[in-house]
Amino acid sequence: MTRITIIGYGKMGQTIERLAKEKGHKIVSIIDPRQEGCFKEINEESIKGADVCIDFTHPSAAVDNIKKVASFGKNIVVGTTGWYNQMNEVKRIVEKNNIGLIWSGNFLIGVNAFFKIIEESARIFNNLEDYDCLAYEMHHKMKADSPSGTAKMMSDLLIKNLNKKDKAVFKILDRQIEPNELHVASIRGGSIPGTHEVQFDSPDDTVSIKHVARSRNGFANGAIMAAQFIEGKKGFFNINDLMDDMIKKV
Ligand SMILES: NC(=O)c1ccc[n+]([C@@H]2O[C@H](COP(=O)([O-])OP(=O)(O)OC[C@H]3O[C@@H](n4cnc5c(N)ncnc54)[C@H](OP(=O)(O)O)[C@@H]3O)[C@@H](O)[C@H]2O)c1
Repeated sequence: MTRITIIGYGKMGQTIERLAKEKGHKIVSIIDPRQEGCFKEINEESIKGADVCIDFTHPSAAVDNIKKVASFGKNIVVGTTGWYNQMNEVKRIVEKNNIGLIWSGNFLIGVNAFFKIIEESARIFNNLEDYDCLAYEMHHKMKADSPSGTAKMMSDLLIKNLNKKDKAVFKILDRQIEPNELHVASIRGGSIPGTHEVQFDSPDDTVSIKHVARSRNGFANGAIMAAQFIEGKKGFFNINDLMDDMIKKV
């Protein structure tokens, strides 16, 4: 049982509250400046009794929240995105205050397993010269941006690990694709949940690796697992450390 303080009581904070309770963890407090019934700020009283804080707030708030949590010597899971240009400063805060921090832009465990499989498959297909590689992502019609952040991470991994590819192309092509280019297409429409697929294709067959997200519960479940992982630890960690820890146990 981990005693958790939730920082940010929006969509993610509320999902984490529900799922953490279902899993037998204790929510000791919830902090959100504008939500009724919540503590308004991070201070000694609002954070008292927590083993770990979980932050899903806003890019503009995350680093300040980390600083405050660290000043009370508490460990933290950071799910908020958009603060990564301050990574070095955050590392210094963690070291100076001797706390534990784990962060990820995507706490969905299946997506992180998908990334590990992509890395491994690139190593295999580097030795199989008949196979070309391509990728696509699909999302519902409400999604505001493309390509998705996950698609960018997927293509970065492929470019880093595939000998034949050194450039991702996200736009529509009005010419043949060059052999060194990896085409990553984006499709939008309907209610399609986040879907990412990589294909290794030869004249004779296709090998495909696909991830389909079903609900935001997966992000919350991953963040709760991260809270259990970081409890009692000191240092700066990311989702890869959690994945390695879980895979080791299999
Ligand atoms: N890592 C992952 O797996 C993952 C998954 C999903 C989302 N995210 C990220 O997590 C963040 C939150 O997502 P969401 O969907 O839960 O957003 P959301 O529904 O907008 O919730 C964020 C909540 O945090 C509150 N907040 C803002 N500043 C705060 C502060 N300083 N202290 C405490 N609470 C504060 C907001 O209040 P106001 O509305 O009044 O500003 C809002 O209630 C975003 O950065 C999103 O990109 C990450």
